[in-house]
Amino acid sequence: MRVSLSEAVALLKSGTPVAFPTETVYGLGALAMNTEAVLKIFATKGRPSDNPLIVHVDSLENAEPLVSDIPPLARQLAFAFWPGPLAIILPKKPSVPDVVTAGLPKVAIRCPDHALALELIVAAGALAAPSANKSGRPSPTRTEHVEADFGADFPVLDGGPCRVGIESTVVDLTTIPPKILRPGAISAAMLKNATGVSFEIVREPQVETASPGMKYTHYAPKAKVSFWNGQTPNNAMLLALHAPVHGEHDVCYSGDIERMARELFDRFRQADYLGLPTVLIERFDAGAGEIAAGLLNRIEKAIAR
Ligand code: TXA
Ligand code: MG
Repeated sequence: MRVSLSEAVALLKSGTPVAFPTETVYGLGALAMNTEAVLKIFATKGRPSDNPLIVHVDSLENAEPLVSDIPPLARQLAFAFWPGPLAIILPKKPSVPDVVTAGLPKVAIRCPDHALALELIVAAGALAAPSANKSGRPSPTRTEHVEADFGADFPVLDGGPCRVGIESTVVDLTTIPPKILRPGAISAAMLKNATGVSFEIVREPQVETASPGMKYTHYAPKAKVSFWNGQTPNNAMLLALHAPVHGEHDVCYSGDIERMARELFDRFRQADYLGLPTVLIERFDAGAGEIAAGLLNRIEKAIAR
């Protein structure tokens, strides 16, 4: 059910989760300080309770009630990249409910770069929000994806298609050196350029210890995903960055890797909708653009399922 901004605010204040747009993917929001409301997020998604949530704020100042300390590195990052696709993990204040952080002593905070999301946060307060998909499904980048997972009656604030299309970069500032737990549109090089600090890229399987949620299956359509070996069987969807394509469900992005990232999860869902058994993706390297490492991470997770 598509709701207006004021309806979304009223629902949130009454303790009901609402899906809302961000620049990355749609979020399933509840007031971060309301334990009962946050528990409903886990129930709606079928999300394991050991997988912590990101708290969405409208500014670093308004994150002060959530975190026990804002170090200079956090200020530099927020100055450079907020509002934007970067979640920053800091030590949490005791007042943040344990359900939000899955019992961890640290909380992820993010200021989304989306006018509707910011208006919602300003009116309702800080929102704990995972991606608004059923656990194990690709993150939703359109209102229709949220409706496909949660039903047409579920309240959604419609903001159209998401601009980035893969989830935020997640950095943990509670360790030395700071770590990248999840790559996204803000690359390691961008973090280094903005701060002078080298972030450690945590890879599988270590990332599962650093961030409990990373162990769960993500980003996977029902179709089998693999890298393209040059052969295209019937009934496959080929997503190519450069190679010419021929099939009716194939797409060539002509080198536009940001568009490929924007559309990846929608293509995954379309393959399932069309009943295609196979999605093939042309290989590219991590130097293909700032978002390349993040996009490869999502593709590799879908392949590994
Ligand atoms: O772009 C995004 O980040 C989207 C939009 C809605 O903001 N949200 C999102 O949330 O992708 P979610 O819950 O699907 O993914 C959050 C990731 C999970 O892998 C979780 O384990 C990790 O961030 N995370 C959150 N809080 C954490 C914490 N305190 N410590 C370690 N990892 C954390
Ligand atoms: Mg998610």
